[in-house]
Amino acid sequence: MGDMHATAVTPTPLGSPLGSPLRAQFPILAQRINGLPLVYLDNAATTQMPLAVLDAMRQFETSTRANIHRGVHTLSQRATDAFENAREAVKRFVGASPAHELVFTSGTTEAVNLVAQGLAHGLDGRVGAIGPGDEIIVSGLEHHANLVPWQQAAQRSGATLRILLPDAQGQLHADDLARLLSPRTRVFALTAGANASGERPPFEALLALAHAAGAITVLDAAQAVAHSALHMDTLACDFMAFSAHKMYGPMGMGALVGRRTALERLTPLRFGGDMVQSVSYQGAVFAELPARLEGGTPHVSGAVGMAAAGGFIASIGHHAIEAHLADLRQHAVRGLQQIDGVTVLSAQTPASAIVSFVVQGVHPHDIGTLLDARGIAVRSGYHCAQPLLDYLGTGPTTRASLAVYNTHDEVEQLLGGVSHAIGVLR
Ligand code: ALA
Repeated sequence: MGDMHATAVTPTPLGSPLGSPLRAQFPILAQRINGLPLVYLDNAATTQMPLAVLDAMRQFETSTRANIHRGVHTLSQRATDAFENAREAVKRFVGASPAHELVFTSGTTEAVNLVAQGLAHGLDGRVGAIGPGDEIIVSGLEHHANLVPWQQAAQRSGATLRILLPDAQGQLHADDLARLLSPRTRVFALTAGANASGERPPFEALLALAHAAGAITVLDAAQAVAHSALHMDTLACDFMAFSAHKMYGPMGMGALVGRRTALERLTPLRFGGDMVQSVSYQGAVFAELPARLEGGTPHVSGAVGMAAAGGFIASIGHHAIEAHLADLRQHAVRGLQQIDGVTVLSAQTPASAIVSFVVQGVHPHDIGTLLDARGIAVRSGYHCAQPLLDYLGTGPTTRASLAVYNTHDEVEQLLGGVSHAIGVLR
């Protein structure tokens, strides 16, 4: 099989603010890999940063850098203002109300660990919010980062972990959740977009159901925050975790936003400086939120960059981003489905930027390697979601994931590359 595949190229509409017109804002994209122009389709792992984000971080590092909350000197106060202004900007970006607070973390993984360990452990000898006989429900679509912390929390607290399994197509259903919920359910944890399959579950309805049953609700928004408008003030969500590096911001930065009353139930993950009000040799009185959950020197330029990334997304608009990604995804899904032996996971799911697929008789690592030889970056493997891919029976997949700067021409190159790889490997 050669590079031929059956889809017609769908041109990016003239005048569209997305795709090609945005690429000048992303200098990293203008390079060649293995002699060919980079086609970057690994955005579910890490999106690239636009100049607006790079400039904001550079500006902080070159004019304002100092440690925060610690000095009376001018730079320290300016750095503190930059950090706290970033917090307010990211809160606005996710529709937080005055009843919410936002804690900066190193990413989604730390944010979920903060919740899981923070609920399982009691502070100062008190019992945790999860105890023996309690139940934790986690969806079967989750990244390891929203599963393993709950396995650990269950083991440490004596609670039972239950899995809300998807159907054979990888979809979650409210009636299955209704059957699992019980008076002992303390927590329900769910993704807003499955990183391995691309499935977009009906998370609003599932969270509402669990919340009505009295569960603490946790949303992993890592794969949704770059394109879906998420409004904390309308979701039945106690905690939402997300990462800056999947929303055009810096790596090593993320956030946990939650209801204040829910955040107050968490035992800190990190004890030390900046999270205490007063300390003696015998003990400590902890600071109010959010400082209580942010021990140690934070990634201040990361917070500045994350706020700028939110501003970048807002300047384009969630509606325009979702429309662009849906268009590209449909192009990719249709094209892949026309290639013999290719199965696309969650092909029909709405509002997803992920195209995950398997090719009969061909290992995804081989496809990924041959695509890379053409300058095309995708991810191959289990995508840190091994239980889901084992359960669905697909095993590892090849995953192309889309962002605002991707174009229909790049989708065509992906389709040509996959056809070529299959021709070589079969
Ligand atoms: N969680 C990231 C991914 O899905 C790394 O690729």
